[in-house]
Amino acid sequence: MGSDIDMKRILIVYDTKGGTTKEIIGWIRDGAVSGGAYVDVRDARGPISALNYDLIVAGSPIYGERPMESVLRFLRRDDLHSHRIALFVVCYAGVFGMRNFMVRRYLDELQAYCKGHVIYETSFDAASGPWRKLNREICIDFGRMLAGTVHRPPEAIESA
Ligand SMILES: Cc1cc2nc3c(=O)[nH]c(=O)nc-3n(C[C@H](O)[C@H](O)[C@H](O)COP(=O)(O)O)c2cc1C
Repeated sequence: MGSDIDMKRILIVYDTKGGTTKEIIGWIRDGAVSGGAYVDVRDARGPISALNYDLIVAGSPIYGERPMESVLRFLRRDDLHSHRIALFVVCYAGVFGMRNFMVRRYLDELQAYCKGHVIYETSFDAASGPWRKLNREICIDFGRMLAGTVHRPPEAIESA
């Protein structure tokens, strides 16, 4: 486990209407923290500083075949230009993952708006009932994977 100063810093930005995306993000955060990362979670509708993160994760549910406007607005920000970004959508079609044409379209729309450098894209199912437990494990694994693959460049570590 690294010291606070060399921990990988991950920012997760999201929006939700029904709460599923918030629950999914809680699991991703748990996975990333257990993988040794420092994680901040922010609502896309609020003020967000994107400074000093090694990875930004942006997630949106799909409504009427579109990601939420607040998340698209965040991704359009000029100051994301030099950031590494992971994108995900939450939707009914999510269970089919990357193989699904609709999910590909949703992710393409997020990516089209994004000024940063996209390094991951994925989708999660709006799972309920018995699928919820599996969804939780998939999200925790995703968070752990993110923590394991982001590297904190030495120049990003501020000296005291
Ligand atoms: C009114 C409405 C429209 C939706 N439209 C889509 C859609 O176009 N494509 C899709 O895959 N899922 C669609 N969904 C499913 C949502 O994306 C899914 O329920 C998601 O988990 C909602 O996330 P949230 O609870 O974080 O708001 C829709 C759900 C609702 C209630």
